[in-house]
Amino acid sequence: MTQDTTWLNRQRVFFEEGQSLWLFGYGSLIWKAEFAYHERRPARIEGWARRFWQGSHDHRGTPKSPGRVATLVESPGTTCQGMAYRIDADTLGPLDIREKNGYLRERVVLHFHDGSHAEGLIYLATEGNAAFLGDAPLLEMARQIAKAHGPSGSNRDYLLNLAAALEDLGAVDEHVFTLARQVHELQGDG
Ligand code: SIN
Repeated sequence: MTQDTTWLNRQRVFFEEGQSLWLFGYGSLIWKAEFAYHERRPARIEGWARRFWQGSHDHRGTPKSPGRVATLVESPGTTCQGMAYRIDADTLGPLDIREKNGYLRERVVLHFHDGSHAEGLIYLATEGNAAFLGDAPLLEMARQIAKAHGPSGSNRDYLLNLAAALEDLGAVDEHVFTLARQVHELQGDG
């Protein structure tokens, strides 16, 4: 099922209008930054694990054949590597539309490689949202990803672009890398 969170997010104003803020990308926001930003820096957040547990009915799948895209689940002791962007608050308007299928703005603390930290935002899809698919055996998830396509392209490309971007960052994410390996194997190009 789909869920449009655009209007909910407009009320989730955690930073002052007119000031820049940090947005932490952990999924397509790492490798598909089609929005204006002042600077970007690799960063990490603590206590979260990236999981392909969110349904994509609007970008990488369809309502009849949803894809699977990344969200975060709370996981004490786990580090999630990603990319931080310093953006103007009004850039959130188009991002709310891009992330509208179940994602809500949430505040997090971002840690940068130089040891500094800052408060920022993530788009988080929790299990309460109607598009949430949740956990499944990895091979089942890989099969779903291998066959799903949507208006933004194939679900396979979403996964493989994310895996490549994480490798470029020097990040290790066994969940993502295992899914990528399995999709390659399923499609005979592994
Ligand atoms: C993100 O990339 O930070 C959010 C999930 C997505 O758009 O893939």
